[in-house]
This record gives sequence, C-alpha cells and structure tokens, in this order.
Amino acid sequence: MDVIGALMTRCSIRTFGPAPVPAETVGRLLDVLHRSPSAADARPWQFVVVDRRDLLGRLDAAMPKCDMLKTAPLAILVCADPARGKIPGFWPQDCAAATENLLIAVHGLGLGGVWIGLHPVADRERAVREILGVPDGIVPFAMVAIGTPAEQPKLEDRRDPSRVHRNGW
Ligand SMILES: Cc1cc2nc3c(=O)[nH]c(=O)nc-3n(C[C@H](O)[C@H](O)[C@H](O)COP(=O)(O)O)c2cc1C
Repeated sequence: MDVIGALMTRCSIRTFGPAPVPAETVGRLLDVLHRSPSAADARPWQFVVVDRRDLLGRLDAAMPKCDMLKTAPLAILVCADPARGKIPGFWPQDCAAATENLLIAVHGLGLGGVWIGLHPVADRERAVREILGVPDGIVPFAMVAIGTPAEQPKLEDRRDPSRVHRNGW
C-alpha cells in the first residue's frame, strides 16, 4: 500500500478478531513511533505495549466508551515525557504526530486500530496511570487499540472546498 493509499483508506476499527499481533509486527510499530517528527527533535515520549488480556480488560472497565479494548489483542500507550521537551509547549503536538504515525502504520500493515484519547481527560489519564503504573511527571497521552479488523466501516467523502483558502483567507 502506498502512503496516499494508506492515508485515504485508513479508518477507525473498534472490533477485532482474536489473533494476537506478532512480536515482529509490534517491533515494526515501535520503530515507526521512534521515527516520528517532534519539535527540535526532542522526542518527548515514552511508549507502553499492553498485550495482557487482564490489563486490557481492566482498562476497558475503568474507562467509559472504550469497548474496543474488549476485543483488541494489543494496545500501545503513547505517553508524554514533557521534561524531555526542548521548546516548551510542543509535547502535545509531538505525541499526536507519533500517535498518527502509529495509526497509519497499523493500517499499512493490514491491521486495524483506533485512537483512544486520554489527555486532557483527567479521569482517563488517572485510570491509565493507576492500572499501568505510569510514574509522576509522565502524561498518558493517547492509547491505540490494535488488532485484526473484524469490521469494515464505509469510507465517507469528507472533502469540503469551503474549508480551503488560497493565498490568504
Ligand atoms: C484526539 C483523538 C481522540 C480520539 N478518541 C477516541 C475515543 O476515545 N474513542 C473512540 O472511539 N474514538 C476516538 N477517536 C477516533 C475518532 O472518533 C475518529 O478518528 C473519527 O470519528 C473519524 O473517524 P475515522 O478515524 O474512521 O476517520 C479519537 C480521535 C482523535 C484524533
């Protein structure tokens, strides 16, 4: 799949088959995460791989509307490590860039995934911090549930020329 094809056909997958994600694939996803862009190349992030069913179940139980964790065999938590930032205030953008790269890579490898927003939802951040033992000073930013797609949502045309401005507003 080429890059434009991946970007144009990616969609959120929230129901997964039971197949585990092979360790080699997890390694490739981590490689992609580490290659993400960040302001001043600060890489103000940490990643937590979660593939234990009991932990995924506890995360699902602790966070409303996270049913995707009922069937996902894998989730990768993207945390911010703001102390590693070089230009103050950029870490949310850095972590969002990494999270999006992960989502695209998941799709490009024939898997499915969905972004679960954590920061700045205090209840979700607290639940993830507690269940996964995230230390103080590290911010649980987003979680991506990953697995074999068990649904194929219809892609919609979202083009909206009224949002596009040329050479100024
Ligand atoms: C910052 C952010 C937070 C999100 N949080 C959630 C979430 O908590 N639960 C969920 O089901 N989807 C979540 N999503 C996925 C969006 O709902 C989804 O991207 C959007 O509906 C567009 O659909 P698509 O991903 O299929 O293009 C989130 C996406 C982003 C970018």
